[in-house]
Amino acid sequence: MVKTLLLTASLVFVSATALAEISPSRQTELTHLLKHDCGSCHGMTLKGGLGPALLPEQMDGKDTNYLVTTILEGHANTAMPGWKTMLSVDEALWIAKRLKQGVQP
Ligand code: HEC
Repeated sequence: MVKTLLLTASLVFVSATALAEISPSRQTELTHLLKHDCGSCHGMTLKGGLGPALLPEQMDGKDTNYLVTTILEGHANTAMPGWKTMLSVDEALWIAKRLKQGVQP
């Protein structure tokens, strides 16, 4: 129980730090990337296209680590590319959280 609480507290801490490290101008760039680059397959409003919809309904229940790994590594043998040459782990985490919250159009 104590262990779980500590783990939760440290995860919250890590997430807060990660979010704080992304500057407002980089956040604008990432939002642009999400709409235009990710949107080219997942749809501008992320409702799906060649790739599946990435709305909070679909993201709900999916592990954040799974989403971050998917964004960085892609899915082998599918059209989903890995973005690790363009995005840091913190940036992928930021995107994963945005997907879970819902990206404003
Ligand atoms: C060239 C097309 C393409 C682009 C560009 C693309 N994706 Fe994907 N994406 C896919 C496909 C296809 C899948 C489904 C892969 C599968 O069947 O396993 C997918 C799957 C995913 C998933 C897993 C969805 C789930 O419900 O399991 C996430 C998350 C995701 N993409 C995020 C992104 C993000 C974020 C970007 C931009 C940084 C991006 N994708 C750009 C084609 C693309």
